Amino acid sequence: MDFFEAVEQRRSVREFGPGAIPEADLAKILDAGRRAPTGWNYQPREFIAVTAPDVLQKALGLLGWDKNCSAMVAVLMQQRETPSGGYWVEDACAAVENMLLAVTALGYGSCWVQGGLRKCLKEMRELLGVPKDILLLAVLPIGKPVRAGAQAAKKPLTEVVHRDRYGCAW
Ligand SMILES: Cc1cc2nc3c(=O)[nH]c(=O)nc-3n(C[C@H](O)[C@H](O)[C@H](O)COP(=O)(O)O)c2cc1C
Repeated sequence: MDFFEAVEQRRSVREFGPGAIPEADLAKILDAGRRAPTGWNYQPREFIAVTAPDVLQKALGLLGWDKNCSAMVAVLMQQRETPSGGYWVEDACAAVENMLLAVTALGYGSCWVQGGLRKCLKEMRELLGVPKDILLLAVLPIGKPVRAGAQAAKKPLTEVVHRDRYGCAW
């Protein structure tokens, strides 16, 4: 799948069919995250690739998510004082989007789960053994989409792009 197809086909997938993700595919997804840009190239984000069935089931249970999903990537951020100037949210988000596109390009589905983490953040941190000074930003459950679907409707370019100066039509 080419880049633009992946951008168009990426959608939030919340129901999955059974089946494991080959390690090579998981590595490609994580590598896409690793290659995302970061402020000053400090690379303060880390990932936990969850594949152990018991950990995965517990994590999905905490989220109240479809337990058929085959893997989950947790996106972590070192919160220490860094030369990145505290661009940690941006750094993490760039990695998340790269991984979501890689997931799509490989024929899997995922969803950026961040809001849903709030209700179980403490328990999820404990389950994944996240150290105290490291932030858990989001989790990405990954699996084979159970049905076809489309990305949620987006505003047209004419509504979100201005030509040369704010307010001038694209
Ligand atoms: C910062 C952020 C947090 C999100 N948190 C959740 C979440 O907790 N649970 C969920 O089901 N989807 C979550 N989403 C997915 C959005 O609901 C989804 O991207 C949006 O509805 C647009 O759909 P699309 O991904 O198909 O384009 C989140 C997305 C973003 C960017």
